[in-house]
Amino acid sequence: KRPAGTPDKALARPIGKVGVIGAGLMASQFALLFVRRLRVPVVITDLDQARVDKGVAYIHSEIATLESKKRISADEANRLRALVTGTTDKADFADADWVIEAVFEELGVKQAVFAEIEKFVSPEAILATNTSSLSVEQIGANLQHPERLVGFHFFNPVAVMPLIEVVNTPSTNEVTLSTAMVVAGKLRKNAVITRDTPGFVVNRLLAKLLGEAMHAVDTGTPFEVVNGALDPFGLPMSPFELLELVGLKVGAHVLDTHHAAFPDRFFESTNLHRLAEHGTILARDAKGRVTGFDKKAVTIVAG
Ligand code: 3HC
Repeated sequence: KRPAGTPDKALARPIGKVGVIGAGLMASQFALLFVRRLRVPVVITDLDQARVDKGVAYIHSEIATLESKKRISADEANRLRALVTGTTDKADFADADWVIEAVFEELGVKQAVFAEIEKFVSPEAILATNTSSLSVEQIGANLQHPERLVGFHFFNPVAVMPLIEVVNTPSTNEVTLSTAMVVAGKLRKNAVITRDTPGFVVNRLLAKLLGEAMHAVDTGTPFEVVNGALDPFGLPMSPFELLELVGLKVGAHVLDTHHAAFPDRFFESTNLHRLAEHGTILARDAKGRVTGFDKKAVTIVAG
């Protein structure tokens, strides 16, 4: 018997082709996962050919890494490469059964992306958004069929992080939810169904950690103390490494969204916005290993 709130898997639509909108870091990572685990054609698009090419090149390089680590055979690598195509023509999405976006994290941008793609996709296609903290219901506000939209939130690095948040809006229907759960299973991820609330569950927790870390720095605690003080938790990364992994701009956006939704519970950080403009907090060696804090970042915070 299904636990209450779990959709009937028998309702899930089969996925014969995947469309990915956005060819940035998150989109390229999950495009690779879709091709690897679903073994169906994956078409990836972005604003221009240069961005598309960069995304496809990333996927090819990750396939080469899997091959060199002997995780996949040369034949398998060739099969996966052949299943990935880049395009700037949305007509290539006409036969996609599952279309997922990871474009710029701004409501108007995502609304426009979905309103446009709905003109090209079949009426049965399921639409998914990788938004990390925007309202999925609002993202679908301009859709003809908002019942086919679901949140499908991956974590970075996609290949390693075991969870997907499946965001169930008041409009999402059971076929859509069921398909999302089945797709997550095929991707070999744990899926949890969350309500459509700011930050869902994971980013609500993450925003607390990162927001408190930035607030400590904003109010005069040196970076080193914050990093050191958090070591006892045994986290795989310090808050500032995690901020850089997530992307400083994305991190600042996540904090802003939480502050706007719950001003009495979450801090905003002007320093994080300044650091995002600068581009880095940590100093690293040629191999990317953290060696300390970036000198300019320290002076930015010191004011
Ligand atoms: N892509 C693919 N694989 C990657 C990767 C990447 N970007 N980064 C690491 N890996 C793989 C490595 O290849 C390695 O795999 P292998 O064993 O097959 O060789 C494995 O992960 C472990 O990597 P390392 O040994 O190099 O390093 P660590 O053991 O330190 O692990 C880590 C790296 C998994 C990134 C770990 O530090 C970690 O879990 N960090 C926390 C990440 C986290 O919390 N992410 C969530 C961010 S929040 C988010 O994304 C939501 C958004 O909405 C804001």
